[in-house]
Amino acid sequence: MGPPPIKSVAVIGAGASGAATAAALASENYFDVIRVFERRETPGGTWIYDPSPSTPSTLHPGKLPPAVDPPLHIPNALPQTTRPTSQYRYDRTPIYSNLTTNVPEIAMSFSDTRFAYGPFVPHWIPKQYIQNYFALHHLDKYLVLNTTVEDVSLLPSNSKSKSEDADTGRQRERWKLTLRRHSLSRNLDIWWSETFDAVVIANGHYSVPFIPSVPNLEDYLKTFPGRVLHSKFYRSPSLYRNKRVVVIGNSASGHDITTQLLTSGVVKGPLYQSRRTPSRWDGSAPPEGLVWKPIISSYDASTGAITFADGSVLEDVDAVIYCTGYKPSFPFWNATKNGGELFDYENNKLRDTYLHTFHSRFPSTLALVGVPRVLTFRSFEYQAIAIARLFSGREARPLPHLQAMKEWERGRAELVKGEKRKFHDVPWDNGETMAWFRELYEVAGLPRLEGEGRVPPVLDRRTRWAIENVRKYPEPGKDGGEGEEDGWVVVHGRDSLHFI
Ligand SMILES: Cc1cc2nc3c(=O)[nH]c(=O)nc-3n(C[C@H](O)[C@H](O)[C@H](O)COP(=O)(O)OP(=O)(O)OC[C@H]3O[C@@H](n4cnc5c(N)ncnc54)[C@H](O)[C@@H]3O)c2cc1C
Ligand SMILES: NC(=O)c1ccc[n+]([C@@H]2O[C@H](COP(=O)([O-])OP(=O)(O)OC[C@H]3O[C@@H](n4cnc5c(N)ncnc54)[C@H](OP(=O)(O)O)[C@@H]3O)[C@@H](O)[C@H]2O)c1
Repeated sequence: MGPPPIKSVAVIGAGASGAATAAALASENYFDVIRVFERRETPGGTWIYDPSPSTPSTLHPGKLPPAVDPPLHIPNALPQTTRPTSQYRYDRTPIYSNLTTNVPEIAMSFSDTRFAYGPFVPHWIPKQYIQNYFALHHLDKYLVLNTTVEDVSLLPSNSKSKSEDADTGRQRERWKLTLRRHSLSRNLDIWWSETFDAVVIANGHYSVPFIPSVPNLEDYLKTFPGRVLHSKFYRSPSLYRNKRVVVIGNSASGHDITTQLLTSGVVKGPLYQSRRTPSRWDGSAPPEGLVWKPIISSYDASTGAITFADGSVLEDVDAVIYCTGYKPSFPFWNATKNGGELFDYENNKLRDTYLHTFHSRFPSTLALVGVPRVLTFRSFEYQAIAIARLFSGREARPLPHLQAMKEWERGRAELVKGEKRKFHDVPWDNGETMAWFRELYEVAGLPRLEGEGRVPPVLDRRTRWAIENVRKYPEPGKDGGEGEEDGWVVVHGRDSLHFI
């Protein structure tokens, strides 16, 4: 006989990952308690639009989430009320006013219901969709909104709360979550804790912006407050009327914001874009009105000048927008109590995970959804269904032993190092996405004959065609603008999901 069954599950986050997880857990019709903790006032995650987000008091060049988004001090005894925290929490989203999706709708929506329309839609469509997804599957009752998970700790092995099977005496770890809700009317923070048999972390990874360290940038930020910002806080071109702007970066944010500023016609020309590597949308020359620059080599905090790696200098810059991405942050993870860190910032990867989803040290009680950079919502479904099946003890293929999971992690680390790519980037072209989905599909297997559990979705021919052929932006020299439709293009031949 095995350890006791898992009957209570906490989910951290009510974005698309949390929605898929809640749906998968609920459909098993097996768990007594499912709680989806969400720090915002509504589900939706990334897709909630914050028109005027507060910014951190300063940006932190070169600093990583453990330094800029540290854990809060937890009161000694719970439940407890305290004065409201004044620490900046990065809980607003990066969605800007004109943002539309960049993954064709048929491939971005969950498998059981479509977006209102497609192929590329304004940001409010995915938000409404996620909110409706909770309603559609009757998951609203599991939501615990306006509640931040501030600590996740393993209960000590001699704890009474550790789950024990009455017949066999076998034990399994349990988890204590420390939770905080701000009461606006009472102007205080309310703290309490709850314990669970298992936890799914679905907290997203586009909250804490990353800005590289550049000589004199820290002084520059002090001398010219407000001049430099991260794309997380960009909202529309209107703030840049008659301003000389430098955009840093040319990935999805850098490309899209540069395009918006350029086509708006409001900025003082030319617009500058600083690039470290040519991107797939760049072509051989910039469009009219845009000047490419290499990376910035230094700032001058006394004159305001910016020097680039080729020695060129810009003297009269009004705004610098860093589109240099994000770093995942897990301030709630109690590394001391849980026997080690969850994320390895040096190698930019989760520690001790298998298939980017299961925690190899706690394979039957801890899992993560949504970390890989891959086809988004659809991949969350495969992860969520496999997790729900495993937690309910109905998985079709058991997870391998610890050694084999560690071997998977070591093998992948070696592979991506050799190919100079990131551990959690799962490309489409080389078949990695489908191979990964297949592994999760096989862990999950079919629902029970009685109907409990979700069916892992198929990724049919039409969806795969859309992934490979329908794109928001044409790629110079490759797509040729052929088959151009209203705001999107059909391209011929296989192509990867680098846009995600
Ligand atoms: C600017 C931008 C544009 C994008 N465009 C696209 C696109 O076009 N197509 C696409 O497929 N993907 C896009 N993405 C990726 C997008 O993030 C995913 O589509 C998806 O929404 C991620 O869902 P998630 O649930 O994993 O994370 P999130 O949407 O980030 O949700 C995580 C949730 O967890 C909550 N949370 C975090 N910490 C805590 C805590 N401690 N306690 C309680 N709650 C917590 C957050 O408030 C949030 O609601 C974009 C991302 C960005 C940043
Ligand atoms: N729906 C949409 O249209 C839309 C719009 C915006 C964002 N998004 C999504 O948002 C997510 C984040 O995208 P993102 O573009 O913000 O981040 P990102 O894809 O991680 O890109 C980061 C950019 O910063 C550059 N960079 C990083 N570190 C640097 C350094 N030290 N010096 C100089 N340059 C550096 C990178 O250059 P290198 O290429 O050289 O590494 C890259 O151009 C993605 O999922 C994306 O699809 C979607």
